[in-house]
Amino acid sequence: MLSRKQTPHVPENQQCDTYAWFSQRAWVEIDLGALSHNVHQLRNFLSPHTELMAVVKADAYGHGSVTVAQTVLQSGASWLGVATVPEGIQLREAGIKAPILILGATHTLEQIHAIAHWKLQPTLSSPKQALIFSDTLEAIKFTSPIPVHIKLDTGMSRLGTNWQQAGEFVQLVQRLPHLEIKSIYSHLATADSLDPEVMMQQHQRFSEAIAQIKALGIEPPCLHLANSAATLAAPGLHYDMVRVGLAIYGLSPALHLRSRLDLKPVLQLKARVTHIKTIAAGTGVSYGHQFIAPHEMRLAVVGIGYADGVPRNLSGKMQALIQGRRVPQIGAITMDQLMLDVSTLPNIQEGEIVTLLGEEAKEEISADDWAKQLNTISWEILCGFKHRLPRVGVI
Ligand SMILES: Cc1ncc(COP(=O)(O)O)c(C=O)c1O
Repeated sequence: MLSRKQTPHVPENQQCDTYAWFSQRAWVEIDLGALSHNVHQLRNFLSPHTELMAVVKADAYGHGSVTVAQTVLQSGASWLGVATVPEGIQLREAGIKAPILILGATHTLEQIHAIAHWKLQPTLSSPKQALIFSDTLEAIKFTSPIPVHIKLDTGMSRLGTNWQQAGEFVQLVQRLPHLEIKSIYSHLATADSLDPEVMMQQHQRFSEAIAQIKALGIEPPCLHLANSAATLAAPGLHYDMVRVGLAIYGLSPALHLRSRLDLKPVLQLKARVTHIKTIAAGTGVSYGHQFIAPHEMRLAVVGIGYADGVPRNLSGKMQALIQGRRVPQIGAITMDQLMLDVSTLPNIQEGEIVTLLGEEAKEEISADDWAKQLNTISWEILCGFKHRLPRVGVI
C-alpha cells in the first residue's frame, strides 16, 4: 500500500503499536535514512575538530525527539540542544547519554535540581542567574561542579549578557563554586539573510568578547556561534561547534543556501482518503461554502485537518499528491478533515494514501511551499504538527 521502502518503526513515545499505525487516518512519516544522510553531509562539510550539536528542541522540530536524537548521535552528532528541562529529561529517560545543552532560560529551584540530577547543562545569561545556580547548588549540598554555558548577546537581543560585559561575567562565573564553564556562545539574528552585514557585526562582537576574556587570562574551553544558516553560509563562523536544527531535518534556511549541501527532507505528512463522492455543479463545499463546484466534480474527503496541524489559512491554497499527481484542496479545511478535487483521477479509492507534504513520483510539496503561502517560515510549519499524529519512523 505504501509507496516507499517500508520497515515501520514506531517511536517509543507513540501511543499506537506497530500495526495500528497502518490503519491511522493520518500520520507523520520520519525518514531516518534521510536524517542520517543529512547528518553525514553536515559532518563531512565541517572540519574534523568542529563538533556538531543537533538541535532537537520542540520535539525535534516536530519529528519526535527520542528517535531523532538516537539517529543523529549514531550518525555523527555529538551534542544535543533542547529548549527546556523536561525536553532534556525526556532524552535522559530514554537512555541518551550524550551531553545536552538547555538553550532556554532556567532559574527555579526545581529546574536546578533537575539539571543537576539528570546531568543536563544550563545556559547562563546573567550574573543574577549564575548566583542563583551557585547558591542553590550550595544549599542542596551538590558536591561536583555542574557544566554551564555562558551566553553572550551580540545582537539578537534575546538571552545573554551584553557582549561588552563578557569579561566581567565570565570572571564572576569562574569564581563561583559549583559551576564549571564548558562553553561560551552567542546566537545570530540574520544568518539566513542575503546581506551578511549584521551577521558579520555579531561575529566581530563575539571575537571582541573572546579577546576580552582571554585578556583576563581565561582560556575559553569551547566557542560556538553558528545555526544552520551560518553553518552553510560561513565556515569562518564554525568555531569549535555548530548548533544545527533545520538543516538536519533536510530543509534549507534560505533559498540562496539550498545548493550548499545535498539535504533531504526528513518529514512527510500523509493521510488517507476516507470517503469519495460526486457533487453536482453549483454544490457548496465545506463550512461557509467558500467553494462552489463550477461543474460536476469528484471529491475526496481526507482524514486530516487543522487540529492535526494543517493550517486553516491554507484552505483553497494548498495541493496534495495522490498516485503521484497534484490535486487541489477545495473549501474550508475543517478540524479533522479536508476535501480534495480528484475529478482528474477517476480510479481513486477510499483508503488510498494522500501525501500532503513530501514526494511522490516526480512531484514534491515542501514545508517551504506552505510557509510561502502562509507568509511564515518552514520552522513554524514543522513544529505545528500535533501529537495526535503518530510519528512513524521509516528506515
Ligand atoms: C540558540 C539556538 N541555536 C541554534 C538553533 C538552531 O537554529 P536552526 O534551526 O536555524 O539551525 C536555535 C533554534 O532556534 C537556537 O535557538
